[in-house]
Amino acid sequence: MKKALLVVTGLFSVMMLCSVVLADKGEDSKYSTEEIMKKGFKGGLVAKLAKGEADEEQTKLVITMLESLAKNEPHKGSEESWKEKTTALIKAAKATAEGKEDGAAALKKAMNCKACHEEHK
Ligand code: HEC
Repeated sequence: MKKALLVVTGLFSVMMLCSVVLADKGEDSKYSTEEIMKKGFKGGLVAKLAKGEADEEQTKLVITMLESLAKNEPHKGSEESWKEKTTALIKAAKATAEGKEDGAAALKKAMNCKACHEEHK
């Protein structure tokens, strides 16, 4: 009995450790926030979409990245604000991809690095 309990406690600790290491990446999320920031934001992919210069593949990648970002947990700040910001990004990116008139302007507004970093980074 004691042994079984030890095994269970051991497994549980491993699981806890894993979830700490992977905390940057939410459930069903394909990309970690770090990857999204490096490739999508700093790398300029999101900006490319906002400028109307992204090809189909890049556009899809940006949308997948933003959907992943919404599933990830921010480092700090409220869940509501994170949801609001990431949802606005997805909505604007989709509108841009569909060629909607105000899509790009909305995306430029939503991809405000400083506003989001101040609250969530
Ligand atoms: C919707 C919110 C949001 C927006 C918009 C955003 N960021 Fe971030 N960014 C974050 C969060 C949260 C982190 C901390 C993530 C981490 O380090 O795990 C971060 C971290 C970063 C990092 C450090 C990544 C690392 O860990 O190495 C860079 C670089 C970065 N952002 C660049 C940008 C740039 C450039 C823009 C604007 C063009 C931008 N971000 C817009 C939320 C955002």
